Amino acid sequence: MGPLSRRNALLLGGFGTAAIAVGGAGLWWTLSSRFSPVPGGDFTEPEQLRGSNGRLQVRLEASPGSVQLGGQQASALAYNGGVPGPTLRVRAGDVLDIELVNSMAVPTNLHVHGLHVSPQGNGDNVFNVVQPGHSFSYEYRLPADHPPGVYWYHPHLHGMVADQIFAGLFGAIIVEDAQPVDVSRERVMVVSDITLDGSGTVTDASPMDRMLGREGEFVLVNGQSNPKLSARPGERERWRIVNTCVSRYLRLRLDGQQMQLLGMDSGRFPTPRNADEVLLAPGNRADVLVTAVEGDATLGAVYYNRGSMAAMMGPAEPAPSDGQGTGDLVLATLSVSGAPAASPPAVPSRPAAADLRTAAVAAHRQVTLAVGGMGMGMMSFTINGRGFNASRTDTTVAAQTVEEWTLINPSPMDHPFHLHVWPMQIVEERGQTPGQPVWRDVVNIPANGQVRVRINFTDFTGRSVYHCHILDHEDQGMMGVIEVR
Ligand code: C2O
Ligand code: CU
Ligand code: CU
Repeated sequence: MGPLSRRNALLLGGFGTAAIAVGGAGLWWTLSSRFSPVPGGDFTEPEQLRGSNGRLQVRLEASPGSVQLGGQQASALAYNGGVPGPTLRVRAGDVLDIELVNSMAVPTNLHVHGLHVSPQGNGDNVFNVVQPGHSFSYEYRLPADHPPGVYWYHPHLHGMVADQIFAGLFGAIIVEDAQPVDVSRERVMVVSDITLDGSGTVTDASPMDRMLGREGEFVLVNGQSNPKLSARPGERERWRIVNTCVSRYLRLRLDGQQMQLLGMDSGRFPTPRNADEVLLAPGNRADVLVTAVEGDATLGAVYYNRGSMAAMMGPAEPAPSDGQGTGDLVLATLSVSGAPAASPPAVPSRPAAADLRTAAVAAHRQVTLAVGGMGMGMMSFTINGRGFNASRTDTTVAAQTVEEWTLINPSPMDHPFHLHVWPMQIVEERGQTPGQPVWRDVVNIPANGQVRVRINFTDFTGRSVYHCHILDHEDQGMMGVIEVR
């Protein structure tokens, strides 16, 4: 195979094959030159789409094409020609209609990550497949009590999820607060990673990448490399941060500035919490308040050790790549100067989150995410000993009941566990019970560790999935089917 594998040539359609066709000197150039992003442009955001009268109608066309990435032209995948795709803003009780148009050479589909909506029919149904040249109309009906927060959309076609997200298919969804938080400005920050070759084409993942979970060489915010943000001292900003990286954990810091967390994944805390650091596993989101302090500060991602397969692969195996060698990355730069702003009013408090710790538990289950050797260098990625099979139902749950699941990870690397439709409350982590209720839709299960969660299977019935959100693992089978009825 050349610099661009058949797999990626198919994924990127005409753009990929053009790169292969150069041959000769062109091929040599592609192999020996490196893509170099241009850092430091002014911060930009994807287009924001808002509905009216309780409905937002959107057409999302997934296609290969030439897009701006890291300040350069690149050949990637995009929704409506941009990476990230448009930000969709809705409210509790709204209907979100998305017509997904597949202009790629490969099948795809759509998932609204974290939204508490029906998994059936043309709802958040990941068993649906949209073939090349076809389109499908999704309809997501948000309940009237849907929690506010930061969500996102991405393809969910088993076997291609990591490839399609890594190549550019993702976008943010914001469910607005009923009572707004007074801020000077709000910014959506969609963080992604990607590897591009010298011709600006997305590179394919190696078998090793797929085993560890690929991490892209470039980490971008809204498709930009280290964009510049500016504010005045005392201004309060709200940052909606999404980790769309298929395998990379983001341990975020904003040293020198005052950072508070309004919420994680869905919902908002009763009051903001001070935070020096925020860990986002792949798929997690943070709703952050930043109160600007004079000076320059960087939004950085510091090294997070998510384990390695060294114990299983023998001593030659390196630790998972951090992409840029040092382990610490600069995602964006905030410059604060000018006349001080008046101090903002208090953040309206929210009711306490639901707490399932005193609920009656209808069933206890164990969910074990394992990585096994299959010989010949092949690995198996399983949940409770089995790889994904869309036609098999692994877990059947009675509707309107609360269950307690013990998520077990006997492998030497972390697995971020994700359940669709119904959020999870963490009731025990590292042998400890959290003081306040902690809700997530992606729960990190540390290497050789376990976490206990409780889930309220309320509002919806139907078939859906749970899986590892290191999407290379999910694509290799670390996913199971749940049916609530
Ligand atoms: Cu963000 Cu099933 O995934
Ligand atoms: Cu999801
Ligand atoms: Cu995993």
